[in-house]
Amino acid sequence: MSFIASVKNIYHKLLWTWNPGSEKEAGDAIVKNLMLHWFPNKISKGSVSWKYSLWLGTISFVLFMILVFTGLVLMFLYVPSVERAYSSVKDIEFVVSFGWLLRAMHRIAAHLMVALVFLHMMRVFLTGAYKNGTSTDAKRPLNWIVGLVLLVLTLLLSFTGYLLPWDQLAYWAITVGTNIASSAPLIGKGTRFFLLGSNEINQNALIRFYVLHVFFLPMIVLFLFSYHMWRVRKDGGLAIVDREALEEKTEQTPPVKTKTYSLLGITSGATVHVQNTMVDEEKNSIPAVPNLTRRIWLVTLFTVLVVVVLSILFRAPLEAPANPSVTPNPAKAPWYFLWLQEIVTDTTINLGIITINGAFIGGIVLPAVLIMLAVWWPYRDSSSINSVGVWFAPERRRQNMVFIAICVMIIIFTIIGTYLRGPYWNFYFPWEDWPTMPVRF
Ligand code: HEM
Repeated sequence: MSFIASVKNIYHKLLWTWNPGSEKEAGDAIVKNLMLHWFPNKISKGSVSWKYSLWLGTISFVLFMILVFTGLVLMFLYVPSVERAYSSVKDIEFVVSFGWLLRAMHRIAAHLMVALVFLHMMRVFLTGAYKNGTSTDAKRPLNWIVGLVLLVLTLLLSFTGYLLPWDQLAYWAITVGTNIASSAPLIGKGTRFFLLGSNEINQNALIRFYVLHVFFLPMIVLFLFSYHMWRVRKDGGLAIVDREALEEKTEQTPPVKTKTYSLLGITSGATVHVQNTMVDEEKNSIPAVPNLTRRIWLVTLFTVLVVVVLSILFRAPLEAPANPSVTPNPAKAPWYFLWLQEIVTDTTINLGIITINGAFIGGIVLPAVLIMLAVWWPYRDSSSINSVGVWFAPERRRQNMVFIAICVMIIIFTIIGTYLRGPYWNFYFPWEDWPTMPVRF
């Protein structure tokens, strides 16, 4: 076999080119195969389009699976004890064959998952996909709320993993993160104690974070994801299905009234024509095998490839071992909480004798308000069915603008916190040198 022929052969094998001979064969494939069992037999054309969902939800799930597989192998090598955690991670990085790749893949996939779940949420909002269509038992707003819980869980999964290497980066990021939580009045200190299992970050915190990270949080994400997907089916498919049905209905031309005589010429008038009000679902649907399965496979391959390439390019960092008595300056929270840290630092308000703590506003009030707003939004959005499952519907322009403004602010604050903040949280451009800081013991 020539070289080109063998490359083609591999390509076709990768794409899994099995084509069912008939619709029956395609249906049988689903019924007979355990892995395909959870797919619908038929799917609407719009649901598998690349432009509608951008496959961001699927990519998020593939990233989660990469995390599970790499995480399971890491569990054989990592020791969750304050004395041994750092050295076990150092062994994974420098001694174990391809340990550095395993660690880098786990880390890159975790960062990407946070970003992709956020982008998936943006796409759902901007396509009005949290709104019910014509289906009577649809509960898309509920699925949006399930999604919000998944977003919070994704952040927690990443946050709990942050501490595990037990290096300076880990220790101080968790210190800053949990200090933000402790600023809530009345319950703040208790929450921090509950998170850490102590007043400081020690063995109790490490084992707590470890168990949450490797067992409880992944199990809850898996369970909620299954429910999330089941709801998509129950809600009549992706929101674009409602859009397609609506378009098909308006495409149906009303019957032409013809002047006629009937009933042996005794009565006269227009002939009665009955218009079929049913949407022709058959016309718009295609077998899930291979149309959906092949795309999922392609998205999976693409995601794995991107994670591997990025992991080779960007090795996972490992700083000096955690040292509670050496505070880095600046001490930064994990990147996805830096927009909050930015607000925390800028919002302390002095009103005469009263000082409103910035950490309270940025760390507690703002996230709580944003989450409550997000939960409430689908129920207050009264735009018509024409704006369900369509990108940037003109009718939803105003709310899309508000949503985009909030997201852009979060992104800008994250970029400022990540790249433009130096010692004492002062502002530095990337090309400016930071002053040499005395090490604080
Ligand atoms: C672990 C996190 C998540 C995973 C793995 C996930 C996965 C998915 C997948 C695979 C789909 C099918 C369509 C697609 O690929 O876009 C989907 C749809 C959906 N997701 Fe998520 N999702 C997650 C988080 C979220 C979040 C944060 C929200 C919103 C707050 C959300 C709301 C929705 C809604 C409403 C749909 C139906 C969309 C439509 O009908 O067009 N999901 N999700």
